[in-house]
Amino acid sequence: MASDIDDEDPTEPDPVGYIRTARTSIKWTRYAPDVLPLFVAEMDFGIAPGISEALINRVRSSDLGYLDGPGPLAPAFAAFVNDRWGWDLDPARVHIATDVSVGIVETLRVALPEGGRVAIAPPVYPPFFVLVDEARCQVVEVPLLEKWGEYALDLDGLEAAFRDGVTVFLLCNPHNPVGLVHDRRTLEALADLAARYDVLVVSDEIHGPLTHPGLTFTPFAAVAELRGARSVVVTSASKGWNLAGVKCSVVVAGDARSAALLDTFNDEIACRTSILGLHANIQAFSHEIEWLEDAIARVVANDRLLAALISDQLPGVVYHRPKAGYLAWLDFRGLGLGDDPAVPLREHAYVALNSGLGFGQQGRGFARLNLACEPDTLREAVARIAAAYPSSMQGALVWHVA
Ligand SMILES: Cc1ncc(COP(=O)(O)O)c(C=O)c1O
Repeated sequence: MASDIDDEDPTEPDPVGYIRTARTSIKWTRYAPDVLPLFVAEMDFGIAPGISEALINRVRSSDLGYLDGPGPLAPAFAAFVNDRWGWDLDPARVHIATDVSVGIVETLRVALPEGGRVAIAPPVYPPFFVLVDEARCQVVEVPLLEKWGEYALDLDGLEAAFRDGVTVFLLCNPHNPVGLVHDRRTLEALADLAARYDVLVVSDEIHGPLTHPGLTFTPFAAVAELRGARSVVVTSASKGWNLAGVKCSVVVAGDARSAALLDTFNDEIACRTSILGLHANIQAFSHEIEWLEDAIARVVANDRLLAALISDQLPGVVYHRPKAGYLAWLDFRGLGLGDDPAVPLREHAYVALNSGLGFGQQGRGFARLNLACEPDTLREAVARIAAAYPSSMQGALVWHVA
């Protein structure tokens, strides 16, 4: 994969030294330089050269004004989802927002102007708790089911919640942090429940483009409308192509009622979206498929590497391997590192992971690791943890997901 970092030097002893000197995001500034950062969901990979070029061209043209809608992003996104997943989407149903998080909050605001009960399925992306609160709604937790390392939506639990007054379900599709790609049958069953109880499903599909080979990602809206369910999909090229800082997401109505709902969005929402983000998203969805496939291949190779490293050097850690995205969900309970292993791992092993606790109480004893890095970064991280916790050599369990 081509990188836009000029000073890349793979022979540098610090495996991330060359990135640390080039970048200024949280990943590279939050902790001291002796801490290896594998926490926030940003890739270490350089962005696609075509996206750099598109951004530079906009800057050279002084094209840094306001937006009032998706413009050419709507047909570009519709063509991408049609080619990749067979989702036949009317571009007129596409809106834009600052980012996926803002898209979710704004959707909740128009769907539940007086507040209401919103279900989420922890362990889940920590801001879900905050976004629901920001929209003055109440979180109802319907945890994922877990059996022998396999996670799944709790459809019975969701039905009980819908019966009990939940009117929106915030679906994470694919699911961060466990990397679960919900299968079509599960999504159809969810759509049937949503239709029966007239629940709006807001589906965060930011990790969808990063689905690993051999699995099929299903956009929720592609099954929901046919079954009479209401849905809004919120997504962006920001995760798949590593563009979080340029701020642009798409908010897509899955059916006519949801289209009418999103048409009530305040004009300010589009206006608060970055024109650079819009052009980066257009370039990604229209021209950077090869780059995406290459990034996925690197993540999949790193997933295999991490499984092997854990089995060799940290057999007391349980690795739940992702089927989409680049986030590894690690169970450290066997090591006796307490409720929040990210803290001792940072203080004693000099490796920064995301605390599992933020994902809900199901994350007690867990931490999340970012696989979108050079293989040497993973080797170094595992070696540091193994050196700090020699007892981690006891016990052996890695969930090998087909
Ligand atoms: C499921 C999920 N949704 C949303 C986001 C953040 O997206 P944005 O930066 O566009 O708000 C992330 C980031 O990791 C995520 O994992």
